[in-house]
Amino acid sequence: IEVSLNEKNIILIGFMGVGKTTAGMLVAKKLQREFIDIDEEIEKEFGIPVSEIFNKLGEKTFREKEKSVITSFCEQKNKVLSLGGGAFLQEKIRSVCLTTSYVIFLDLSFEKWKERISQIIDSRPVLQGKSLEEMKELFTKRQETYAEHHLKVVTDEKDPEVIAQRIINEFA
Ligand code: S3P
Repeated sequence: IEVSLNEKNIILIGFMGVGKTTAGMLVAKKLQREFIDIDEEIEKEFGIPVSEIFNKLGEKTFREKEKSVITSFCEQKNKVLSLGGGAFLQEKIRSVCLTTSYVIFLDLSFEKWKERISQIIDSRPVLQGKSLEEMKELFTKRQETYAEHHLKVVTDEKDPEVIAQRIINEFA
């Protein structure tokens, strides 16, 4: 009997530094699918890192490119995509992802996130110069943008292998 795997894309969303890329790479590897890190694609388009895109070209330019890159990958199949933590601010991105693909929200508590902060801050322009209080505010506000999804995985106590397997069990 031919087993037909669902061909929909799998898309990982969630705040900066929750492990979307790590989990996404594992999911892709296990399913033998192509993995795409959207931030990396944007960097390739401009030829400079995300932080420089923000500093030299501005956030608006970054967000426009983010929208077009995600939209075009959503027209494809069988991909695993990891989105930047701000992508779901845009309603167009939310709707295109939710209608074409399976959207997985990786949910980490702020307490756990805080423990990883030193590894997260440097490469994230939107966190530069923010106090812990301000980061907590942003974290809380961003959670609202992730409210619509097909599966939520609480990642606090889980290692990436377990997270990846959980996603695969649900959709593949
Ligand atoms: C951003 C998150 C980043 C990157 C950019 C903006 C955000 O992606 O897209 O720095 O606004 O939350 P990660 O979530 O992969 O860090």
